[in-house]
Amino acid sequence: MSDGALLARAAELVARFPSCRLLVAGDIMLDEFVFGTVGRISPEAPVPVVAVTRDERVPGGAANVARNVAGLRARVEMAGFVGSDQTGRDVARMLKGQGIGVSAVVADPDRPTTVKTRVIAHSQQVVRVDRERKGPPSRKTHDALLRKVLSALDGVDGVVFSDYRKGTLSAELVAEVTAAARRKGLFVAVDPKQTDFSFYGGCTVITPNKGEAQAALGGRELRDDLEVWEGGKTLLRKCRAKAVLITRGEEGMTLVERGRPACFHVPALARQVFDVTGAGDTVIGTLATCLAAGASMREAAVLANVAASVVVGEVGTAPITAEKLLHALRAQDREREAEREEGLQIPARPGGTRH
Ligand SMILES: Nc1ncnc2c1ncn2[C@@H]1O[C@H](COP(=O)(O)OP(=O)(O)OP(=O)(O)O)[C@@H](O)[C@H]1O
Ligand SMILES: [Mg+2]
Repeated sequence: MSDGALLARAAELVARFPSCRLLVAGDIMLDEFVFGTVGRISPEAPVPVVAVTRDERVPGGAANVARNVAGLRARVEMAGFVGSDQTGRDVARMLKGQGIGVSAVVADPDRPTTVKTRVIAHSQQVVRVDRERKGPPSRKTHDALLRKVLSALDGVDGVVFSDYRKGTLSAELVAEVTAAARRKGLFVAVDPKQTDFSFYGGCTVITPNKGEAQAALGGRELRDDLEVWEGGKTLLRKCRAKAVLITRGEEGMTLVERGRPACFHVPALARQVFDVTGAGDTVIGTLATCLAAGASMREAAVLANVAASVVVGEVGTAPITAEKLLHALRAQDREREAEREEGLQIPARPGGTRH
C-alpha cells in the first residue's frame, strides 16, 4: 500500500475507533516509578541513597493494554485481579479515570495487588522492587472472574488476552472464554507468555515476541526472515490460530497467516529509541482495536507497528493515542513525499514486504 493510501485508510479506521469495544483480560499490575537524584553512598550499606523528587503510578501489565486501547478512543472493559487492598482500589480508580470499564476487575482476597516499583536516578534505573504473589487464585475467586468475563462478552467486538503468567489466565478460563467468544463471532487476540501455545487453542491471532516464539518452539532459534516464517507456521498450527504476529524488536514484525502462501514483514520504523518497555502492549492494543474497526490482519499489523514506533520513541510507558498515531502516519507520508521529490532510492516500507 502506498503511504497516501495507508494514511487515508488509517484515518477511516481511526474514525471508527470510538464505536469499537474490546474486553482486555489478563494480569493487572501497577507500575510505579520513583524518580530522584543520588548525592551520596549510604553509611549503612554500599548502596546509593536516592533523594526522591517525584513519583508516578500507572496501571500496567494487561491494564497497559487497556490504556492503549482507551488512548485510541475505543471503549474498553478490563478483566482481571487486583488485591483487596488500597493499591487495588487505586488501580480501579485510575482505570475508571481513564474511561476504562472495571466491571470485571475482581478483588482477590488471597493476593496483594501486583506492584513493580522502579527507582530511577539521573535517568538510570537503580533497582526494581516487585510485590506480587504468582499462581492460581482460589476456585471461588477464579469462578467469580470467569463469570464476569463471560458476561462482559456481550456487547464487545473482540477479546484480548494479555498474559504475563501471573496466574490470572487459567487454561480453563482461556478455553471457556475463547469458545464463548468464537460462538458469538468475536475475535480473540493473545499476547502470550506460556510456552505451550495449545493453551491458547482456537484464538484468532497471537503476538509473541521473538523470545516467546523461540521458547514456544522448544528453544529453536529464529535467526532470519525465513526461520521466523517457518517458526510462525509451526506456531499457527499449535494454537490453531488464523494469524501469528511475531514482534522482533528493532527488526520490526512478521505476520504469518493461515492459508496465505507468503508471510508479511513489517520493518521497524523508530528512529530514536528511548524506552521499549510496553511496546508489546501497544502492539496488541492497536492490533485489536484495528481489527474491531474492520481492518484486515495486514492493515492492523502495519498500524500496530507504527504505534509501537511512536511509544518506543517516548520515555516512560505512555500509551499510544489516536492523535499520535495519525501524526506519525502524516509525518511518514511527508517524508516519503520529500524523498520522492529528491529522487532518492526508496526502500520498501512501510507497507511491508512479501516473501
Ligand atoms: N529497538 C527498536 N527499534 C524500533 N522499533 C522497535 C524497537 N523495539 C521495539 N520496537 C517496535 O515495537 C514492537 C514490539 O517490540 P518487541 O518485539 O520488543 O515486543 P515485546 O518484547 O513484547 O515488548 P515488551 O517490552 O512490551 O514486552 C516491534 O515489533 C517494533 O515495531
Ligand atoms: Mg511482550
